[in-house]
Amino acid sequence: MTKRQTRLVASNESIFSEGAEGDCAYLIERGRVLIYLNKEGTEIPLKIIGEGEVFGEMSLIDNTLRSASCRALVETQLIVVTREQLLQRIQVADPVVRLLMRALLERLRFQNDAIRGKKSGPTGSMANESLEKEKREALERIHLENKIAASLEQRKFIPYYQPIFDLHTGELKGAEALMRWISDDGTILTPSAFVDIMEHSALILDAGRLMMEGCMRDLAQYNRQFKSRSYFFVSINISGRQFASAQFLEQLESIRRQHGIEANQIKLEVTERVMMEGPLALATLQHCRSLGYQLAIDDFGTGFSSLQYLASMPLNDLKIDRSFVVQMLTQERSMSLIKALIHMAQVLGINLIAEGIETAEQRAILQNLGVQQGQGFLFSKPVPFSELLNLPPQIRFQAA
Ligand code: C2E
Ligand code: CMP
Ligand code: CA
Ligand code: CA
Repeated sequence: MTKRQTRLVASNESIFSEGAEGDCAYLIERGRVLIYLNKEGTEIPLKIIGEGEVFGEMSLIDNTLRSASCRALVETQLIVVTREQLLQRIQVADPVVRLLMRALLERLRFQNDAIRGKKSGPTGSMANESLEKEKREALERIHLENKIAASLEQRKFIPYYQPIFDLHTGELKGAEALMRWISDDGTILTPSAFVDIMEHSALILDAGRLMMEGCMRDLAQYNRQFKSRSYFFVSINISGRQFASAQFLEQLESIRRQHGIEANQIKLEVTERVMMEGPLALATLQHCRSLGYQLAIDDFGTGFSSLQYLASMPLNDLKIDRSFVVQMLTQERSMSLIKALIHMAQVLGINLIAEGIETAEQRAILQNLGVQQGQGFLFSKPVPFSELLNLPPQIRFQAA
């Protein structure tokens, strides 16, 4: 970690002057500073700020000159915030928040110009290309969020199902529910077009509820139609945000009961990120298990994997990510990783499900390594519920 830069300024000492180039912003650790404008030799105070407040950020954000002058009112200790530190954070912020911030800066500049008796021209940030891009992004995002919200109300998000088979016997064991959006022109959109936006807003909560309802309704019909078939599960993807919401369990339970489904027919797929939601998440996981739900960890090995999490979570399944399955045949390291994963899962008594199996060779290798179940385009793409009903209860594997 780099050393934190600080600056100590004496009472009345200037920190920077209006019109100078901005190289850093400051956080006041102790003391007080005055922000002011110079109008024909007179000082016009704008604001006195103190401990914990930031200043000198405007010129960095929109790459212009210092919009005001600044001096210490008492001996003041400052922490330097570098351009990189500031810009990095802004870059990862939500585009709508970025646009709001720019608009607020614009307003401040306009105010300052009015005090100076100058008219604001389009010289500021609003004129530049990067801002135009930011505006476009923010608009597109709001537009998409609104479209998603309207589609949620019309229940245009539905589950598709990708079957999961026993890799040894070819038996159909269950299916993973994957969200699809029926767009206005009838095309079916996959989550890459919407799930990010949903997960960054509260939309995922409504979408999650809709998925739970769809899955339970379909599963109830499946059970009615195939009474004599053996145990069949449906896996539902649950995002960290859903998991952290207070209503989640209550909703899940109420929808399940309404459709007369046993909890053990439902598998909740969560990623390791769920554990980042804090200790409550682990308690919720345990609560789900005690109610009889099955738990699978998704995308294991792609994120913040931690063996400690793995050992502390009450898991039934571990899903081997598609990226390992794809690289398994070409990269020795991936193969070693899969072997280590399998060993670990066996020690912990966790069932393995391999994702993204596309070739007979991959299937055969995974089967030989002792992976029990798998899903992938080799067997079936995700299909609408009506097609799931037509799948045979057992398939024959082609030789590799
Ligand atoms: P995931 O949970 O890892 O789901 C597996 C993804 O891999 C699915 O993409 C599936 O269609 C795809 N896939 C399966 N087999 C193969 C294969 O053999 N080859 C290739 N190339 N791909 C395969 P999909 O349906 O586009 O979903 C993407 C992601 O969106 C999911 O990844 C999951 O993280 C998220 N998602 C989907 N449905 C939901 C949902 O209802 N709620 C939440 N929170 N997230 C969801
Ligand atoms: P910057 O333009 O880099 O340098 C001057 C700083 O003064 C500016 O960033 C803001 O942090 C602050 N500033 C400018 N105008 C105002 C205002 N009207 N009210 C409060 N703070 C201001
Ligand atoms: Ca999944
Ligand atoms: Ca996955």
